[in-house]
Amino acid sequence: MRKKIVAGNWKCNTTISEGVELAKQVNILVTERGAKDVVVVLGTPFTHLASVCAIVDPDRVCVAAQNCAAEPKGAFTGEVSVSMIQSTGATYVIIGHSERREYYLETSEILNKKVALTLAQGLTPIYCCGEALAIREAGTENNFVKKQLEETIFNLPAEDFKKIVIAYEPIWAIGTGRTASSQQAQDMLAFIRQLIAKKYDQTIAAACSILYGGSCSPANAKELFSQADIDGGLIGGASLKAEDFLAIINAY
Ligand code: PGA
Repeated sequence: MRKKIVAGNWKCNTTISEGVELAKQVNILVTERGAKDVVVVLGTPFTHLASVCAIVDPDRVCVAAQNCAAEPKGAFTGEVSVSMIQSTGATYVIIGHSERREYYLETSEILNKKVALTLAQGLTPIYCCGEALAIREAGTENNFVKKQLEETIFNLPAEDFKKIVIAYEPIWAIGTGRTASSQQAQDMLAFIRQLIAKKYDQTIAAACSILYGGSCSPANAKELFSQADIDGGLIGGASLKAEDFLAIINAY
């Protein structure tokens, strides 16, 4: 049985005190009313990780960094290494979000280093992929996503690949209010699962949690999560409101 995961991505939002307050609310709601079979993850800014880890129940709420350094340590001013992230108590790292690929020019080569360092430290990468609108309109989204996977996580040996989570986030649906239809999301996730089966094997493909991200909300989560290959969501805007985030967690 693969894990169902609902992960919040707070992006560059909230001060530490606001973030701790939000995490406290989520923790209470999830503990009291959250679906027990859903893994809940809060992707907070680096500055918030330790404080958020200190106040959540680690059996119910996990914490993720939104990025990590591509080097283990050293003279890389402004970077935050995976071992620093681990020392906060966080257990997941979001890697390759389209905003990082686009605004910070993260290439497949850089992402490979980040995934390797995250795995080496025993943390779980949430590896993001997804196409821009022009690619979707040209009808070449499958080839595009396939290439993203082939250049990065498909280089991993099976033992490592088994430890990662994938999030498919079409760029045109992120923060736009324009969600992929549940059929579009299902089609892509089924395609990704098929690629995993070909590259590795059926068992590994069946066990891999693949999430959908992009304007996921309490209004559409149920329909999205009812699809056979959608194992949860990576949630941006709606993860900043505790009740909305809970409603998405409970949409299964
Ligand atoms: P959104 O963001 O839910 O605000 O569209 C999703 C994401 O970028 O992870």
